[in-house]
Amino acid sequence: MIKTVSGAGSLKGSLQLPPDKSISQRAAIFSLLYDGKSRIRNYSQAQDPQSTLRCVQQLGAIVKEDSGDLIIEGKGRDGLVEPKQDLDCGNSGTAMRLLSGVLVGAGISAKLIGDASLCGRTMTRIIEPLEAMGAHILARNSAYAPLFINRVEPLRPMEFELPVPSAQLKSCILLAGLFGEEVTRVIETLPSRDHTERLLNLHQQWENGKKIISASIADEIPEQSYTIPGDFSAAAFWLVAGAIQNNAEMLIENVGLNPTRSALLDILGDMGADLIIENERMEGAEPVGDIKVKGSDLKAVEIDPKMIPNCIDELPILAVAMLFAEGTSVISGAEELRHKETDRIMAMSKMLKAVGANFEEQEDGLIIHGDPEFTFQSAEFESFHDHRIAMASAVLSLKGKGESKIKDAESAAVSYPTFWEDLEKMMN
Ligand code: S3P
Repeated sequence: MIKTVSGAGSLKGSLQLPPDKSISQRAAIFSLLYDGKSRIRNYSQAQDPQSTLRCVQQLGAIVKEDSGDLIIEGKGRDGLVEPKQDLDCGNSGTAMRLLSGVLVGAGISAKLIGDASLCGRTMTRIIEPLEAMGAHILARNSAYAPLFINRVEPLRPMEFELPVPSAQLKSCILLAGLFGEEVTRVIETLPSRDHTERLLNLHQQWENGKKIISASIADEIPEQSYTIPGDFSAAAFWLVAGAIQNNAEMLIENVGLNPTRSALLDILGDMGADLIIENERMEGAEPVGDIKVKGSDLKAVEIDPKMIPNCIDELPILAVAMLFAEGTSVISGAEELRHKETDRIMAMSKMLKAVGANFEEQEDGLIIHGDPEFTFQSAEFESFHDHRIAMASAVLSLKGKGESKIKDAESAAVSYPTFWEDLEKMMN
């Protein structure tokens, strides 16, 4: 599907975001492991969380709806069943990596499949440690899905220092560890999103600046009854759209504000964006609030590479903000972007090139020479079937003088099914 987006005079109004993708997926998986019923309010209708929900059902969870809430009945860690069919993770790396950990821990054989994008993403980072824990995993070319998971040996505990700051990898090993008699420890140097630790209430300690998270069968799985907050990564598109648009004034309600996710707020703040956070509160284990954004003059920023894991999904839209900021902005230390739904550094470069931006692509990021007066007539954007590239291109299109086209626009539904309607609403 191709979407046409014209330049916006202003953006005004208030918005409710789609429920958080990462938290929804964890809520489903952790409910499967809980022995009893969990009531999840505001579960995401987006494609990734729906793929996860179907997999969780195939593994034995009973899922019902009650007044719009999901009731997920799990049978506990010893109650999982072998799936009769392949587990289809669709486009979701989180589903494939977290479920692999569960399968290895539970000693359940299964085949995990996914779409073309997911089958092109390396799974080596989970295969090696899971095999060290006693699994035997057959992968295409030893690295890619489909994955056949088998545990042929007794589960061994792990002391695992994360080689990349990935929440999916961290969660995968902890989930396998939750089935072990002895304690598995994951050591994290750069903090990545901590929803797994929070929602499972896992033991955490800090030593020499590193975080050590522990998991074993002795950990009780808590009931997963809470309201899923609005997705910060979805809010990011509106925060940037508002910041770069003169006359913009938007209120984004019920936004997840987990500090391991929200580095974009600090970065936009450093750039001079006009953001006000109100009504801060806790929703279960997660902080939430409302954010007001107004158009303002932005200045360039160099992102501290240590912050990259805390804004990893927001970098495509941040590149758009940098384009309209005075001076030269730098994204570095972000080679992980090359392993996302598509090679996002390549995709961001193509997006910037489509409007004639002044920038340089680096192996681990981008250098963007911004200009508050930057303008373009119209552009044709490739999304590379990547939801975040499609939505970032749409926000960039709002700054064009004419009409721009965005290819594969339907990919937004992977995380944000109502994105295109919300965009129209904000432009009116
Ligand atoms: C996610 C972790 C991140 C992020 C992805 C969701 C998660 O991936 O990019 O969109 O839910 O744990 P990595 O762990 O590979 O960095």
